[in-house]
Amino acid sequence: MNTFKSLLVGAATARVALGQYCEHQWEGKFANHDVDGVPYLQARQNVPPPPLEIQPLIVSGPTSNRVNFLFLGDGYTEDEKDKFFADALYLANNVTDGQTFVDVVPLMNFWAGFSPSAESGVGTYGTPRDTVYGLYRDGTELRGLYYDKPEVARAACQSTDTCDYPILLGNDPFYGGLGGTFTVTTASPNSGPAVLRHELGHSIIGVGEEYDGGEVYEGVNAARSPATAPWKQWYTDASAEPKVERSNMPIQAYPWTLLNVTSAWSQSFASAGTYATHLLQVSVSGMTATADLRVDIDGRDVGWRINPAVGVDRFIYNIKIDEPLAPGQHVITVTLLNEELEGTAQLCNLEVLEYGGEEEFNFDPTYHGLYPTFSSSNRTTYRPTNDLCLMRSTYTGNFCSACIEGLWLSLLGPLSFVDNVTQTTGPDGATNVTLELLPLAQFRQVPYPRAEGYEILWYGADDGVVLAEWTNSTSALIAAGTEEFGVEVRFWTEQVRVDEDGVLVQKARYTVV
Ligand SMILES: *[C@@H]1O[C@H](CO)[C@@H](O)[C@H](O)[C@H]1NC(C)=O
Ligand SMILES: *[C@@H]1O[C@H](CO)[C@@H](O)[C@H](O)[C@H]1NC(C)=O
Ligand SMILES: *[C@@H]1O[C@H](CO)[C@@H](O)[C@H](O)[C@H]1NC(C)=O
Ligand SMILES: *[C@@H]1O[C@H](CO)[C@@H](O)[C@H](O)[C@H]1NC(C)=O
Ligand SMILES: *[C@@H]1O[C@H](CO)[C@@H](O)[C@H](O)[C@H]1NC(C)=O
Ligand SMILES: *[C@@H]1O[C@H](CO)[C@@H](O)[C@H](O)[C@H]1NC(C)=O
Repeated sequence: MNTFKSLLVGAATARVALGQYCEHQWEGKFANHDVDGVPYLQARQNVPPPPLEIQPLIVSGPTSNRVNFLFLGDGYTEDEKDKFFADALYLANNVTDGQTFVDVVPLMNFWAGFSPSAESGVGTYGTPRDTVYGLYRDGTELRGLYYDKPEVARAACQSTDTCDYPILLGNDPFYGGLGGTFTVTTASPNSGPAVLRHELGHSIIGVGEEYDGGEVYEGVNAARSPATAPWKQWYTDASAEPKVERSNMPIQAYPWTLLNVTSAWSQSFASAGTYATHLLQVSVSGMTATADLRVDIDGRDVGWRINPAVGVDRFIYNIKIDEPLAPGQHVITVTLLNEELEGTAQLCNLEVLEYGGEEEFNFDPTYHGLYPTFSSSNRTTYRPTNDLCLMRSTYTGNFCSACIEGLWLSLLGPLSFVDNVTQTTGPDGATNVTLELLPLAQFRQVPYPRAEGYEILWYGADDGVVLAEWTNSTSALIAAGTEEFGVEVRFWTEQVRVDEDGVLVQKARYTVV
């Protein structure tokens, strides 16, 4: 698949977004795979590709008619080759096994390309190590993971037909990532999959954020006003819309600060006092036990408890408090209690959300309506669901219906439903034409619970005439003397309700050979 055009959202500036989950290093409007049409990428530096040992991870069909994802390992030494392939397979499995891309995996191939790095791991304090692509963190904070050698990554990607989407995989056990031309993630067992699927959501579907505090809100899951929501076909209760679920964000902060036991971190904020409940979201790293940290609102412990599964990795905690905030000033205090953690324990970001009462805010996780999202400058846009989508909630593995629809349309756009056409001699001089279709509907390799199907129409020499006897058959007999025939393949799935560009209908004419 060479002419794939993935529209990336966001401005073409170096490093934007102080998003709480991901950083974006936009290099241009189009991703790497559109190499033919993007001058920026044509003007690539003249570097040779690194030696690449490519292994298949999950392969559903020929590279020419699938969307190919290639993990490129960084900071893996020759001795760590097996670890790289295992880390990449873990990630590929995680985003396809029962969640995230499970529905569309027949359209995807996952590959892993190993190149040995001289040094192991990723750099810190802005300094890369001696690795293939030069991944590094700014300080030690568990946030953006940047690349120093995009020209090498680009050369690697262009040296193979397995690379429509390059994914730089850093050999590091903690949170870190980046979206843009190159998706960057780490081998963190907890946050690696979360970062990967979120960043791929940006690059494949072309959507912006759904979490609060981002910069870019665009695509099929974002609306500037309730009237312009592009997911109206997914409203759970169309007769009730447009009804904005009532909520407010009275404080949002990105301290990214090391904590100490001498003085607590605190910040005050004001509430109108007109909401029913509230939620504190706080993300920290470097914690080892619940006794290490105390988080208070107005001197009252909100009940922060460590997630033991993440260890010292960064984690985003959501603490729902089923009480209103009183009108007036409030203060959030974050106190480090364990002195041994000074120098590592970090407060990353926090926000408070207030929610209207039962009639005003629908917490049903699958409810598709209009939920307000608040940007870094507190600009309001709208999203389809509360916390269902992984473009908002880091630890959920799934997209909302609007994003899944977008996913289908984006992935199918450059593909053909027909993997192969073979012509053999049939009875009475007829030509037996047999189609091999993308392994969807009745051709799926694993049982699939959702409704979907193909409709196949055959046309004779005259494109207007349907050869009805072969409708829905993957094979047809074309009468002797016919020089040309046509095939129309229509695919439908319950996950696509609106297909404005007609991506799900493809028609082609063939010559009898
Ligand atoms: C994916 O990874 C998460 C941790 O990020 C883990 O909790 C989950 O069980 C994994 N799921 C699969 C299907 O591998
Ligand atoms: C965002 O705007 C709303 C509405 O004006 C206001 O109530 C809220 O306090 C603001 N939040 C922040 C973090 O500025
Ligand atoms: C301790 O942390 C507080 C809150 O973040 C900060 O204001 C203060 O400068 C820190 N003190 C030291 C000695 O680092
Ligand atoms: C198409 O089918 C023919 C005959 O079965 C086979 O030889 C050829 O390799 C197939 N091509 C692809 C791209 O699968
Ligand atoms: C062909 O299949 C489609 C479903 O994919 C169905 O709606 C249609 O009725 C079928 N046509 C015939 C003639 O069986
Ligand atoms: C075409 O040939 C294939 C393979 O021999 C056979 O399975 C199929 O039934 C034939 N198609 C028709 C329409 O006769």
